[in-house]
Amino acid sequence: MGQKWITLENILVEKLILWGIGLGRDTTGKKVLISWGAIPESVVDIRVLKNRSNRIEGQILRVVKRSPLEARLPEHFQVYGGCRWLPIPHEKQLEIKEQQMREVFTHHPEMVEGVAWHPIVASPEVYGYRNKVEFSWWKYISAREGVHDDYRFGFHESGQFDRIVNCTYCVLGDEVVNDIFTAFNAFARENRIPTYDVKTGVGFWRHLVIRRSKKTGETMVVVSVNINYLGDDQQVEFRKALKKFIGMIPVITSGYLLHNTGKADIVQGFFEHIAGTKTITEKLFDLEFEISPKSFFQTNTLWAEELYRVTGEMIRTKNPVVFDLYAGTGTIGMVLANRAREVYSVEIVPEASEDNMRNLTKNNIKNVTVINAPVEKLLEEWKKEGKTPDVIVIDPPRVGMHPDAPGILRDFNPEEIIYVSCNPATLVRDIALIAPNGEYRITDITPVDMFPHTHHIEAVVRMERAS
Ligand SMILES: C[S@@+](CC[C@H](N)C(=O)[O-])C[C@H]1O[C@@H](n2cnc3c(N)ncnc32)[C@H](O)[C@@H]1O
Repeated sequence: MGQKWITLENILVEKLILWGIGLGRDTTGKKVLISWGAIPESVVDIRVLKNRSNRIEGQILRVVKRSPLEARLPEHFQVYGGCRWLPIPHEKQLEIKEQQMREVFTHHPEMVEGVAWHPIVASPEVYGYRNKVEFSWWKYISAREGVHDDYRFGFHESGQFDRIVNCTYCVLGDEVVNDIFTAFNAFARENRIPTYDVKTGVGFWRHLVIRRSKKTGETMVVVSVNINYLGDDQQVEFRKALKKFIGMIPVITSGYLLHNTGKADIVQGFFEHIAGTKTITEKLFDLEFEISPKSFFQTNTLWAEELYRVTGEMIRTKNPVVFDLYAGTGTIGMVLANRAREVYSVEIVPEASEDNMRNLTKNNIKNVTVINAPVEKLLEEWKKEGKTPDVIVIDPPRVGMHPDAPGILRDFNPEEIIYVSCNPATLVRDIALIAPNGEYRITDITPVDMFPHTHHIEAVVRMERAS
């Protein structure tokens, strides 16, 4: 029996708003928000998911009329959840992102009065830019759909968390990443051990993570498996075969076998070092960073350089004392260190702070202090101690700052605040909390094209003390 859905037909996608959601209108003029892969100027039929008083939310069922903007992609390109904007020409993507950045200030026009809007900074590479790609092995068995597929290896389908599409070519990884993926695909198929089933927790192959330094070419693979699926003798045999296989791919300089026995579909567990070096080295400008399998590192190396260049250029205070808040592995603080008197680098994740300290030593940087603590707690302590930063750089996660943090931050009265944002919505919310009565005014906004072919937008915003 066919599924009964409420549908809406012939909806024109007028534009894309934040998160890549398409905006259209029904015949009464009510807003229609269209998720998963809308392309501006296309006409689509949608399946209605929610009908609210002020808007309808739905998913595309079929494309009735293709958008004149839609690019013809080379045959070997595939569109997954992670590169959904591929059919939109890159120039148009940049235009959309710039537009979206301006639109988030629609309800706060006073914030952007007299602001210098700088052009969006494009990623230096449009394809093959990712220094880390994560593939998944999967099964897909569905009696309802009549599908029984024991082996899939690739990426999650757009908007589907329980389904993997076989990858043949990853546009966001470079040729080496694709070659390694292809080799592992053949290796896993030949070796006949079953893929892991997330529903039952039975099976072996789970994820392949490939990390490749853009600057040095050093390449790490992490083979994530449910090791307990094999008996002790089989484990010994498998390890031997895997080492031999990795040894035949000279471009791989570091190899790990991840004992991933947890049920959650994430890359975690015990990392057993099995080949080459334990870390790979990446570079930003003339700084070197050691990357271990657990380290966080910006996934677009060349783009990260652009982001940090823009961040540095925004700072006008000479020889400042800088708070680098939400520091991750401390890359922003390290890049700023040679023009600052002192940098205080604050991060909540212990492993990231440890990486930060190791990289400071490696690069012989002496004027950065690393503190592993929640920003909101530490700022309270520093306020009592009477610390006086000249510049505060904040780079919070997508959810933005903890609600206690903006007010305390303002109390430090720094000359400048530089907000590096990966979520325009929380950016505007936090700015309103930092300067509810115009204590700081925005002087500059530079959108940065973080990941081409995705809806993500990064922006660097400079604020200065109003008086
Ligand atoms: C967008 S990342 C920024 C990373 C870094 N600035 C960089 O350029 O690579 C946000 C960081 O904030 C950290 N974080 C999240 N909440 C935090 C909190 N309350 N206090 C301190 N750090 C936090 C996360 O662990 C993450 O490393």
